[in-house]
Amino acid sequence: MKTIDDLQVAGRRVFVRSDLNVPLAEGTITDDGRIRAAVPTIRRLADAGARVVVASHLGRPKNAPEPAFSLAPVARRLGELLGSDVAFAADTVGDSARSTVAGLADGGVALLENLRFNAGETSKDDAERGAFADELASLADLYVGDGFGAVHRKHASVYDLPARLPHAAGGLIATEVGVLEQLTESVRRPYAVVLGGAKVSDKLAVIEHLLSRADRILVGGGMVYTFLKAQGHEVGDSLLQEDQVPAVQGYLAKAAELGVEFVLPVDVRAAKDFPDLRTKAPAEPVVLAADAIPAGLKGLDIGPETGRLYADKLADAATVFWNGPMGVFEHPDFAEGTRDVAQALADSSAFTVVGGGDSAAAVRILGFEESAFGHISTGGGASLEYLEGKALPGLAALED
Ligand code: 3PG
Repeated sequence: MKTIDDLQVAGRRVFVRSDLNVPLAEGTITDDGRIRAAVPTIRRLADAGARVVVASHLGRPKNAPEPAFSLAPVARRLGELLGSDVAFAADTVGDSARSTVAGLADGGVALLENLRFNAGETSKDDAERGAFADELASLADLYVGDGFGAVHRKHASVYDLPARLPHAAGGLIATEVGVLEQLTESVRRPYAVVLGGAKVSDKLAVIEHLLSRADRILVGGGMVYTFLKAQGHEVGDSLLQEDQVPAVQGYLAKAAELGVEFVLPVDVRAAKDFPDLRTKAPAEPVVLAADAIPAGLKGLDIGPETGRLYADKLADAATVFWNGPMGVFEHPDFAEGTRDVAQALADSSAFTVVGGGDSAAAVRILGFEESAFGHISTGGGASLEYLEGKALPGLAALED
């Protein structure tokens, strides 16, 4: 894979595919981690005299412009972080994009509007994606792939465009891949993994992969209730994927056979209703034993005893990978479990990797310093698919 050092960028139009897909609440960015992670590559290219054309997706619009998914607030934040103006194109390959790119001086930076406003970006049809990639290619001379969070997507700007321009990997992709290689090829043991998030079905492939690699797997988040059910416990009104119970039972049996320790909550914080994340009104949580959640209550976070147990189970690890919050951390009544795990990682001398998406946002929103962790990935799904051993289209496309 070539790097930016292999490209002559001065005076050239360089298309940078970043992942600037940040969470927004009513137009306000609630976590700018992905924008900050994108800045070093953009700055480096601009400092080298490139005319930098940055592009990204945001959310999942339905193939047409939707104001709620505009990258305009991201352009403003990117400009603040770079300390220089970022010209914002109001479309992706239309008049605004063309004139904005044509107006760039050497060292200038522009951001195109959300790539997913164009159906060609995510199309499953190779010709439709290719046609969009052709239009994007006409805006640039060189391509730098740096959107690690999107490399698992076979999308026009990620997969088809690099085939049309001389290309290289940006610094963020190089860093992310280097860290994930440490987890897959040369992991220091004991290797503990903390898995959370809502749905166990999203994590089946990674659990399968980890069973032959991790020494210990700690489970939290909404998916935990399917594990508790698989052990024969009642889970009340908690989130449950009944159809996944047999698969989870299979994993628990295989883990026992292989000597991999699965650690499940001993207590949970529960409430009658899902909390209001907008008003953050008190939710009257109760702490219950994890094997006795009655009908009418739903588990929404791991409990305090589980927080202590998980900290103990992480204390002697040499490597920790964490993906997925332990509960509904967006509400203060159910943030403690996620905070306990974040604190355990922050206190640990292990090589700690926080795997993207919600868990990366959670550690920042809960006020932890990024420097307390070995690496905070910008890739949620991308990190998981890398760990599953899948070929990632956006990385394959950057190979020479
Ligand atoms: C992410 O948030 O994981 C990436 O930005 C990819 O977004 P997507 O899941 O909508 O493709």
